[in-house]
Amino acid sequence: MTKTITNFHDLIHNRRSIRNYDPDRPVSDEILHKILEAGRVAPSAANFQPWKFIVVKSKKFRKKLNQCYHQPWFHDAPAVLVVVGYPDRAWVRKDGFNAIQIDLTIAMDHMILAAAEEGVGTCWIAAFDETRLRKALNLQDNEVVYCITPLGYPRKGYKKARGPIRKRMEEVVEFR
Ligand SMILES: Cc1cc2nc3c(=O)[nH]c(=O)nc-3n(C[C@H](O)[C@H](O)[C@H](O)COP(=O)(O)O)c2cc1C
Repeated sequence: MTKTITNFHDLIHNRRSIRNYDPDRPVSDEILHKILEAGRVAPSAANFQPWKFIVVKSKKFRKKLNQCYHQPWFHDAPAVLVVVGYPDRAWVRKDGFNAIQIDLTIAMDHMILAAAEEGVGTCWIAAFDETRLRKALNLQDNEVVYCITPLGYPRKGYKKARGPIRKRMEEVVEFR
């Protein structure tokens, strides 16, 4: 995970969830900026951009955040990216459908792929304790979080798991 991947198809085929982080190898501000920039330019319904990206790096907040997901590899990560959304600022269809989850997911995916391009490991995490996360970050009532991800480099010698098997094209594609 140290090589930069520049070809899009290589990037999406080689990205893997990383569940092993070197706590002593932080992600530089320059690389963090590139990752966040990918989220900033992500598309959103009606271009409302109803989000805020929080990078948790400080010992104080990392410790608080660790309470919301009890996996040792999560605790090792030098930084965690939290994509915060504002449903009250998101586009709403006439029938009441609110695009917030889609908007946040696109922004997160942009950043996860940008991280992969930089050789930075990530792992989508939805299984966190929401109450604890809200408390740790002092989120307001109009703020929502669906997914977070660690940002960091795998420990030396870590071998990326072979790709989990994906369904075959015929199983997921239909032409009509
Ligand atoms: C919406 C979403 C939520 C996920 N939540 C978790 C999680 O809470 N914990 C975890 O270890 N992995 C989580 N994952 C990672 C998936 O297990 C992983 O992406 C999937 O097995 C495919 O593996 P890959 O990312 O290495 O290609 C999540 C992925 C997505 C897209």
